[in-house]
Amino acid sequence: MKYYIKTFGCQMNVYDSGRIAGILQSLGCKEASGIRDADLVIFNTCHIREKAAEKVFSDLGRLNIIREERAAEGKETIIGVVGCVVQAEDEQIWKRAPFVDFAVGPLVYHRLPEIIAKVKRKRGNFIIDTDFPVETKFDFLPENNSSGACSFLAVQEGCDNFCTYCVVPYTRGAEYSRPVEDVLKEARRLVENGSLELNLLGQNVNSYHGEDKNGKERNLAFLLRRLAEIDGLRRIRYTTSYPADMDDELIECHHDLDKLMPYLHLPVQSGSDKILKSMNRRHTSGDYLRIVEKLYKANPKLKMSSDFIVGFPGETDADFQATLELVNQVKYIQAFSFKYSRRPGTPAAVMNGQIEEKIKKERLEILQKLLFDWQNKFNQSCIGQIMPVLFEHKGRHAGQLIGRTPYMQNLHAEVGTENLNHIINIKITAATVNSLSGTPEI
Ligand code: SAH
Ligand code: SF4
Ligand code: F3S
Repeated sequence: MKYYIKTFGCQMNVYDSGRIAGILQSLGCKEASGIRDADLVIFNTCHIREKAAEKVFSDLGRLNIIREERAAEGKETIIGVVGCVVQAEDEQIWKRAPFVDFAVGPLVYHRLPEIIAKVKRKRGNFIIDTDFPVETKFDFLPENNSSGACSFLAVQEGCDNFCTYCVVPYTRGAEYSRPVEDVLKEARRLVENGSLELNLLGQNVNSYHGEDKNGKERNLAFLLRRLAEIDGLRRIRYTTSYPADMDDELIECHHDLDKLMPYLHLPVQSGSDKILKSMNRRHTSGDYLRIVEKLYKANPKLKMSSDFIVGFPGETDADFQATLELVNQVKYIQAFSFKYSRRPGTPAAVMNGQIEEKIKKERLEILQKLLFDWQNKFNQSCIGQIMPVLFEHKGRHAGQLIGRTPYMQNLHAEVGTENLNHIINIKITAATVNSLSGTPEI
């Protein structure tokens, strides 16, 4: 059987899709060259905003046409939906897309072999598994065999924070941290397979509290220090962090560990204390600014990125203004910003003071312009500097490679394909708002 996986949503889904590919390979499946060539198509879905979820269903409609075209050629196609939409929509998936064969929630991917075998035995029956099991899938998945210079590594899953706008605590369940030794083992394997950079993932990664060999709970700072000891591993990142869990031990790591990149994604969502409270964020804008100050002090080279939501229920012009002020104080070098999306089942969906679309759109445009200005300012300031760049992809022109700076900026350079999956020093010669270019510094 040939498989094709399409991934929607966040980095955790990218990681999960890699693990699912690993399961399918262990069953003897091969990766298809494209969606039309696949006997098994899996959509790994995201439910975070209405648009993300709706895109899944429109793409499923298109997939059904492909399925029918293949059927006319005498080829069967098994269609599976996995990920956060499954956990949220449950049986509704089948109502909206009755041609789907199976649907599996994010916490039970280890059951996929059994589910796929069942589907093959008895076609036409819809199989769904949205369990929050007692066992953890990580204990049953085949080893992570992915290769590539940059790898994701899930160390924590789920969220207990219950921000009032967010579906994640419902789709990914309660917080779970993988044991320290399991993480180290996977990390060593990824490095043996060629990873120079590891990006530790968790919905709330800095609340990590995995057990060590002796059953003692350890925090993310401990884990980072252990990972930093791995020979051959050059760069470490972690994402996404929750401001209230940014403790001093973790901040200290940004001073002590050279391998920890000088870039931190720390979503603030809003600069207004009233809105933050209504979002149930457990931090004020003052708390957040104090954390950022400590981080800048721990590593003066460190730069920040964030997520923002505009048009949360009850957001006034003054609240929005407070967000703009916070942006100017932190001077983010990258950010994601979104219009508030009403998610069924979350507390904010039924709050008074829902904001009309026109205002959300206006505020988003203003915020994004400001964020782009800061991003551009930083990129321009990089011209003339020498930065180590990890080259991961081939560019459009012969001899051109695309890589990432320590600050996650995309960088293009004429460096020759022998430098693929290597870190080399590049002198930055030009910058736009979205990327840099430069020449090797010998
Ligand atoms: N696990 C990650 C984030 C998940 S969502 C974390 O905790 O950061 C990523 C971002 O989507 C959030 O930071 C937030 O800015 C945004 N988001 C979440 N729910 C949203 C909603 N209902 N409407 C608009 N944006 C939302
Ligand atoms: Fe969602 Fe908040 Fe948890 Fe992040 S911290 S996943 S925004 S509930
Ligand atoms: Fe989306 Fe689920 Fe990630 S809702 S953002 S895929 S945790």
